[in-house]
Amino acid sequence: MLANKGVNQGVAPVTYGEGNRPPRGDYAHARGDYTCDQNWSAYSPQEHDLYRRLYERQASQLVGLACDEFIEAVEHLGAAQRIPRFDELSEKLHRATRWEVVAVPGLIPEEAFFALLAKRKFPVTGWIRQPEEFDYVVEPDVFHDLFGHVPLLFNPVFADYMQAYGAGGLKASRLDACELLARLYWYTVEFGLIATPQGLRAYGAGILSSAGELRYSVHSPQPSRVGFDLQRIMRTRYKIDSYQTTYFVIDSFRQLFDATAPDFTPIYRAVRAQPEIDAGVVLTNERLIAAACTPG
Ligand code: PHE
Ligand code: FE
Repeated sequence: MLANKGVNQGVAPVTYGEGNRPPRGDYAHARGDYTCDQNWSAYSPQEHDLYRRLYERQASQLVGLACDEFIEAVEHLGAAQRIPRFDELSEKLHRATRWEVVAVPGLIPEEAFFALLAKRKFPVTGWIRQPEEFDYVVEPDVFHDLFGHVPLLFNPVFADYMQAYGAGGLKASRLDACELLARLYWYTVEFGLIATPQGLRAYGAGILSSAGELRYSVHSPQPSRVGFDLQRIMRTRYKIDSYQTTYFVIDSFRQLFDATAPDFTPIYRAVRAQPEIDAGVVLTNERLIAAACTPG
């Protein structure tokens, strides 16, 4: 059985509501843009300790698996022993790339999510998972959102990509193309791999906050790894309840930014004219990228 799924690996910006489980956060006191107060002093010592244990488990396996940009920036999250204060983190982040983190009660509607990103505000869930969810939590919590997503917001090119994604999301809403755009988020921001001179590395938040998928995504011979291709990604469905069966590999954050800069209006049209692709399916003539050699 795959024990590690759901949000430990990341979740696309989905709309909560009908069919989804009841939200854990306090939506009633959120502002119109869905942001709320972090209320840092309300975390219990047990919650800080749970964060510390999650942090230590992930931090101990970053070398050789996470990209350098992530490893260098992860220390900006501050003392690993406690859940960071969003206001302090925002100050540092703003100095680096003009981004900030804002607290939200949990998953928020797509449009609200896009609007915040477009303003360089990254929504971070305030609550932390329960101890029994150490390996598996179905929605993003503060650990996934902070540890997975925030370090790369210190990278100027990636930071600009995230803002462009937000603006692109607002446009996709008008074009009824959110599903296609969500696949781009999934296969880059959540589950992206990057080819570096030292070998394959992870940069996706869903991978980086997952205990098991980090090593799997880089070393396992099982999944297919395909070079970044915008239309191929938009055609590809994804799995939310198991490790990914397909990963897409970028050469650099600059490549990612440049490839997504053109107007997507005609691209959405072109994608819709082609069949969808199931996760894990390899197309004829598609060149696959090998897993990183297992050290030792
Ligand atoms: N260029 C995209 C558009 O025109 C916007 C975008 C940029 C989307 C970067 C995603 C990532 O819609
Ligand atoms: Fe995420």
